[in-house]
Amino acid sequence: MQLERRLIGVRAAVRGLRSDGGTVALVPTMGALHAGHIALVARAREVADYVVASIFVNPTQFGEGEDFDAYPRTEAEDAEKLEAAGCDLLWTPRPEEVYPTGFSTTIRLTGVTEGLCGASRPGHFDGVATVVAKLFNQIRPDYALFGEKDYQQLALIRRMARDLDFEVEVIGVPTVREADGLALSSRNAYLTEDERARAVALPDALGETAAAIVAGDDAGDAIIAAKAKLFEAGFATVDYIELRDAETLEPVETPERPARLLAAARIGKTRLIDNIAVEMG
Ligand code: PAJ
Repeated sequence: MQLERRLIGVRAAVRGLRSDGGTVALVPTMGALHAGHIALVARAREVADYVVASIFVNPTQFGEGEDFDAYPRTEAEDAEKLEAAGCDLLWTPRPEEVYPTGFSTTIRLTGVTEGLCGASRPGHFDGVATVVAKLFNQIRPDYALFGEKDYQQLALIRRMARDLDFEVEVIGVPTVREADGLALSSRNAYLTEDERARAVALPDALGETAAAIVAGDDAGDAIIAAKAKLFEAGFATVDYIELRDAETLEPVETPERPARLLAAARIGKTRLIDNIAVEMG
């Protein structure tokens, strides 16, 4: 696996990969890689001839008081995992390769970014959209893979690619979970043993709520019950639990089209997110 830290180098490396006419898939990450990220690389290998992964802890998507400084940085282990997973090229840009002096551009989406995490993390999705647009232009991949774990992020990237005519096919990959159902996340490392045991209430509550809605229960009532369950399990706050259209993320009361139940909640100091499909039979 080749490793590049400079734009001029990564562009040459991608040209090299493409020289036999093969296709390229991009897997953007912020590092601290776990089996969820590796599932994206595995899927990327299935869809494209060459896989490029990026690791960049993107400062512009962290709000004030968020964990930019504390975010786990484990580059050597990450590189080993990527190489073992069959990644061809690792792009770990120096900050100035992404945000040169005088950088003045922000990409902001309306609609899909409103509400949910957009409400509790102002500016977050502007940072995500801007850095992903940059990565698309730097690598120019044929495919780009993102996890359903960050469902609102996936929806905004699909929207942005369509709106801005990026010549990339955006592929969503199902959430990889621990044996008890907790979604893998780099932020799970912040949980104490006790919090980790309690955290499973989040996927449990989402699963029960989705099942209740599919069985015909009122979504509003089912969501109130889910919030109570999270507080009972020891979650400190629930930022949101909401039923949205699976594609547009518009609020939904009774799902006729495929819908998604999305949640964010804090246990101790850690904010966890998760989501699940709600599809009527
Ligand atoms: P990061 O949190 O490192 O996640 C990188 C990718 O891995 C995202 O597409 C995310 O949805 C996916 N992922 C994380 N946990 C997963 C799991 N349990 N199962 C499946 N996929 C999972 O998301 C970001 O980085 C950043 O916002 C980024 C897109 C790189 C822009 O900075």
